[in-house]
Amino acid sequence: MFIALFGLGERPQIGKIIFERECLSCHFKGNNLKPPAPVFSEYRIKPEYVVEILKNGVEGTSMRPFDNLTDKEKWEVAKFISSISAKKETLNIDKDIVSRGRYVYETVCSPCHGINGDGKGLGNLIPPPPDFRRFNPVPSATIRILNEGIEGTNMYSFKDILSEEDKRAVAYYILLFYDE
Ligand code: HEC
Ligand code: HEC
Repeated sequence: MFIALFGLGERPQIGKIIFERECLSCHFKGNNLKPPAPVFSEYRIKPEYVVEILKNGVEGTSMRPFDNLTDKEKWEVAKFISSISAKKETLNIDKDIVSRGRYVYETVCSPCHGINGDGKGLGNLIPPPPDFRRFNPVPSATIRILNEGIEGTNMYSFKDILSEEDKRAVAYYILLFYDE
């Protein structure tokens, strides 16, 4: 065990090298894919979620399973992605915004995103919603996505459906799903 950990510590660059070789061609800011490839600095991310996605891909998108990577390589790149992901936000959410956010989430979002944010709502959507407990967008990203929607998916635009306060409240509420 110690030897294995020590071994990983000796080569901290492997994950970064794999990321640059295998992922960066799509996962860069401003990519035009439909749906777009997320930019990881806008999310808090658990490495085990990345490994799961690398095993299964995301049905209905250009995110394919990466069978060309070994399990160890999947973990290396997952740890690198987690290291460049968003850090804990300094949350100064007052009670009002949380209760408003919860109300919006439970009435509008949960049928697709699941009451716990796990992405398992009622439908069998393709592509499926992500698991907010392990892949959690920062509020500015959520608000942008709410305004724009994600073309070619069930995530339609809420620009004229929700007020600015409701968008902001629900964007902060989503943060609470993250599995600290
Ligand atoms: C050919 C383009 C492409 C490449 C290369 C690619 N991805 Fe993706 N990836 C995407 C797209 C598009 C999505 C968005 C899928 C969606 O909308 O659900 C995505 C989504 C993801 C997600 C989030 C899944 C979710 O729930 O939305 C993770 C994690 C991810 N990719 C990891 C990686 C890693 C790690 C690599 C490199 C080993 C990689 N991707 C390479 C296109 C790509
Ligand atoms: C009709 C179903 C549906 C409803 C209602 C819905 N969503 Fe989504 N949402 C989705 C799907 C499906 C995706 C994944 C799209 C993709 O893979 O590109 C998604 C993606 C997202 C994302 C992007 C996550 C990522 O991977 O980058 C955010 C943020 C989001 N939704 C927030 C919300 C919020 C907040 C609400 C409620 C105001 C909501 N959604 C309502 C289906 C829905």
